[in-house]
Amino acid sequence: MTIDLHGRHYLSELDFTAAEIHHLLDLAADLKDARAAGAERRHLVGRRLALIFEKSSTRTRCAFEVAAADQGATTTYLGPDSSHLGHKESVADTARVLGRLYDGIEYRGFAQDTVTDLAAHAGVPVYNGLTDRCHPTQSLCDVFTMREHSRKPLEEISFCYLGDARNNTANSLMAMGSLLGMDVRIAAPRSLWPDPSLVSACRELGRDSGARLLLTDRVAEAVRGADYLYTDVWVSMGEDHARWKERIELLLPYQVNARTMAATGNPDTAFLHCLPALHDRSTDLGAELADEHGLDGLEVTGEVFESPASLVFVQAENRMHTIKAILVATLGSN
Ligand code: CP
Ligand code: NVA
Repeated sequence: MTIDLHGRHYLSELDFTAAEIHHLLDLAADLKDARAAGAERRHLVGRRLALIFEKSSTRTRCAFEVAAADQGATTTYLGPDSSHLGHKESVADTARVLGRLYDGIEYRGFAQDTVTDLAAHAGVPVYNGLTDRCHPTQSLCDVFTMREHSRKPLEEISFCYLGDARNNTANSLMAMGSLLGMDVRIAAPRSLWPDPSLVSACRELGRDSGARLLLTDRVAEAVRGADYLYTDVWVSMGEDHARWKERIELLLPYQVNARTMAATGNPDTAFLHCLPALHDRSTDLGAELADEHGLDGLEVTGEVFESPASLVFVQAENRMHTIKAILVATLGSN
């Protein structure tokens, strides 16, 4: 079956078939190998991309910029407050302007409706670089990293996400794992479980894909045998800083630490995190929370983060290879 993603948006995992995601994963692997061999072919020469960021970013912005540069495309970065979007100009008007100047638009911000609105009016592919609801370029990278690191096919891989399970990263990971037929476990307090409508959509996907989906508040049950443990920050961008106290109280039992890793019973369990991570006192926020709550790491301890089981920097690099695959598949010349 030929897969053609030319001209498509990348707004949510739920817009894709498993075959289309596998196509992107294979393409990312080819592009990664070609770059390492110094044999990369440029498929985006002369293409122009607008990168809109209404929230901060290190990996996503740099991954888009480097992927575009490697492939011969140019980028324009529009940071928080540096354009009229949302202040003096509507999403639809901004989309119609940028769509005339650019071949593709990346958007990171708050509401999922904003990115769908952009896509409805731009006339060029729009890529979701994170909204409050989902983070689909991250989940593509996450399954790419699992597949790359594992000897098993994706359908046999199990992963457990621990922590704030209704945030963007968790939603995307659950959706991607369900689409691809994986063994998906979510360990979180019930008050932080994903939206029931997303859980139903994922269970529906699982009926076709064979995915197993476990939602529980019991860590030991969720992590047993898992190939990967995954966590993310306990308070996401855009949430009130005042939430930290209640989140720490709720989520400390879900911290990924040496005991959690040992509880898998699997000596090969690897650790993943989308980053940035609060794993020590080396950031202002990490130090402030450590002082206030007597902790050294938040969602993950430094011991696990720095251990040989941690794949987080390979995973961060893979953002670039997987984003490059999305750009080449949707905009590339042959
Ligand atoms: N993982 C991720 O999206 O990182 P940034 O916020 O740095 O882009
Ligand atoms: N859940 C995090 C992900 C950061 C990449 C946030 O939205 O802040």
